[in-house]
Amino acid sequence: MHNSSHNARVVPGRASQTVLSIVFYQHYNSRCLMPHHRYKLSDLPYAYNALVPTISEEIMRLHHDKHHLAYVNGANAALDKLQKARETGFAGVDVKAIERDLAFHGSGHTMHSTFWPNMKPNGGGKPGGKIADQINTDFGKFDSFKEQFSTAAKQVEGSGWSILAYEPWTQQLITLQAEKHNDLTVQGVVPLLVLDVWEHAYYLQYRNDRAAYVDAWWNVVNWDDVEKRLEKARR
Ligand SMILES: [Fe+2]
Repeated sequence: MHNSSHNARVVPGRASQTVLSIVFYQHYNSRCLMPHHRYKLSDLPYAYNALVPTISEEIMRLHHDKHHLAYVNGANAALDKLQKARETGFAGVDVKAIERDLAFHGSGHTMHSTFWPNMKPNGGGKPGGKIADQINTDFGKFDSFKEQFSTAAKQVEGSGWSILAYEPWTQQLITLQAEKHNDLTVQGVVPLLVLDVWEHAYYLQYRNDRAAYVDAWWNVVNWDDVEKRLEKARR
């Protein structure tokens, strides 16, 4: 089982075909088996200009290459600090601050990793299949869901997200707001469709008109991806 050759660091931002953005590196120190996880930035599933005119190429480049990368790096830095503390001791280590960093940057990474494939060129329209059935069951009709989700996005205080999530134990869809990435969540839900309403997601193109961005965003929604996530969550 001992394998010391796998303790190389992930280089964030490096191109990858990996579907899952979390790469597990099996790192074993000399005393015990200790899985050593590091996060990795995946490429966009389409070209930077694929969502024009809804989202400009400039926004996509900055958003993915700078902002998302910063969350990956921040989450890995928090993991590094915790690993170091495990190895050399927790005396004087501000674990609370590190955990806060890990939650913030880790959630940022998770949410952006959902957001990119949640969109596609020539997306939008109405969903079909199981996601449509579930939306109709839980929200009455698609337009009611869309208005609820959009209103949540427009009203998030400060920076945040609008989220369509599946709650496994009640087997229902709910919408949520997240302030920053990690506040106001219901623990245990599975995000299916997420809309980034941080200013970096729209300001270059839509300035302070968040509502216009939210309304236009429906044109790039990838309902196939959302349905895939629902099916996975139901298993
Ligand atoms: Fe973002």
